[in-house]
Amino acid sequence: MTLAETLFGSTSQGEYSLALMNGELRPCPVGREIAIHSPTDGTLLGQVAALTHDEIDAALASAAGAQPAWAERPVEQRAAVLERAADLLLEHAPTVARCLEREIAKRRSDSLDEVRRSADFLRFTAEEGKRLSGESFFGDAFPGFKRNKIGFTYRVPLGVVLAIPPFNYPVNLAISKIAPALVAGNAVVLKPPTQGSLSALLMTVLLLEAGVPPEVLQFVTGRGSDIGDYLVTHPRVGMITFTGSSATGRRIARLAGMVPLLMELGGKDAAVVLRDADMALAAKDIVSGAFSYSGQRCTAVKRVLVTEPAAEALLHELLPRVKRLTVGRPEDDADVTPLINHEAADYVQELIDDALARGARLLVGNQREGNLLWPTLLDGVTEAMRLAWEEPFGPVLPILRVRDAAEAVRIANASEYGLQAAIFSRDVNAALRIAARLDVGTVQLNGKTARGPDHFPFLGTKSSGLGAQGIRYSLEAMTRPKSIVFNLAEQAGLEEVA
Ligand code: NAP
Ligand code: G3P
Repeated sequence: MTLAETLFGSTSQGEYSLALMNGELRPCPVGREIAIHSPTDGTLLGQVAALTHDEIDAALASAAGAQPAWAERPVEQRAAVLERAADLLLEHAPTVARCLEREIAKRRSDSLDEVRRSADFLRFTAEEGKRLSGESFFGDAFPGFKRNKIGFTYRVPLGVVLAIPPFNYPVNLAISKIAPALVAGNAVVLKPPTQGSLSALLMTVLLLEAGVPPEVLQFVTGRGSDIGDYLVTHPRVGMITFTGSSATGRRIARLAGMVPLLMELGGKDAAVVLRDADMALAAKDIVSGAFSYSGQRCTAVKRVLVTEPAAEALLHELLPRVKRLTVGRPEDDADVTPLINHEAADYVQELIDDALARGARLLVGNQREGNLLWPTLLDGVTEAMRLAWEEPFGPVLPILRVRDAAEAVRIANASEYGLQAAIFSRDVNAALRIAARLDVGTVQLNGKTARGPDHFPFLGTKSSGLGAQGIRYSLEAMTRPKSIVFNLAEQAGLEEVA
């Protein structure tokens, strides 16, 4: 019986208590089980193992030992494994999506989208991996050198890539790291988010079933607060690709030392709305951008900076749309579902309470049942309120009214974050002038802030990250150039050549 049949056959809803070690599924060692509960109703969904340092050492040693042979495989074979993995993900999409729905309370349609998007990501990366190439150079382009010095480069893998994704995309943001790393010839150690480990295990088993050698893709579970420091400082780690909070990212950057880092961190994406904007379009995209997956997206719209002349017209379009959002269970495909845990809900509530206490006007929401929060819209938010600056990662949207675009840029740039921003205006020239002044990785013009499409560069400035993801960008971040230089004999005529 294959791994996938074992896992998908017996407990296909992620209700298992297993550890995956070097391609073998074993019962969780007694006393080291980490229980995973549903954020929706608290039921026990399954257990994963808290790995010991010795088990981590063994996983990393196995990955490092197998990586050279994996890199020696023709890239078209590595690419074919990714293609097969995409097929298997689609074949098992309902099961993996159901696990996401139950484990991270992602609504059914978004859970299916995450799996399908991951299959697309695998296929696109398989193709891009086959086109990863270098450059060539002639010496005489630089003073003092001649054309008999010819150089060329090709790209080589970095060795063992440590991949650490966050809870909100435990499959897609794992694949966005694993796929480029593998096709480029690296081995991967995946440390999934604890709340998301069950879904990540289903995905990992399918990658192994597709033909990734078990030594080359290691699955290391355990709470980040327990094993994170050990992992990021491990001598066998050749590169770290991390997506998560800015606080954790900073900690890793301090500890990791001389390894390449690729980090996608927190965000406080602003939607700037000018008076000439298409208000219906702006409202539609702002609501979708702010409240999908209950605001638990780094690229969520987390503040609206609207000029006074535009404010009433925008609110006229925004308010009914927020009120129409459905609230409930992920299996009912509700627009807004329970947050990942009570601590997260407490934090969002704290920010709402602070804003209201300091004079913000509640337009709709501020209702809570457990870790289910109703979509909340607050007008008249000022710079004196925590909600103007902190990242709620929940279904709350502050409206800040500004005098003009200059004030919008000042407030947008005053944030510690610099992931994305959106500008809504019919005047493209004005929008581009504003975009040029925004200190962020990406500016969306007349559209909501978002990471996709996945071949686009995805990056943040300041506390929002280091380096750029996006398929080709990730491939380059997980490889380095190898330089070869021919020092040919001084060029002579061809007469002596017979
Ligand atoms: P998080 O608490 O930073 O955790 C992210 C990942 O890091 C998880 O796998 C976590 O494992 C692990 N981790 C925790 N402490 C660690 C440590 N000391 N060393 C190494 N790994 C450690 O973030 P989250 O709660 O999952 O996600 C929410 C945050 O991530 C938000 O700030 C959001 O903006 C940001 N985010 C950014 C992006 C982006 O693309 N820019 C995408 C998604 C989320 P455990 O689960 O075991 O703690
Ligand atoms: O928070 C996850 C981040 O990567 C956003 O992804 O595709 O929802 O914009 P997306």
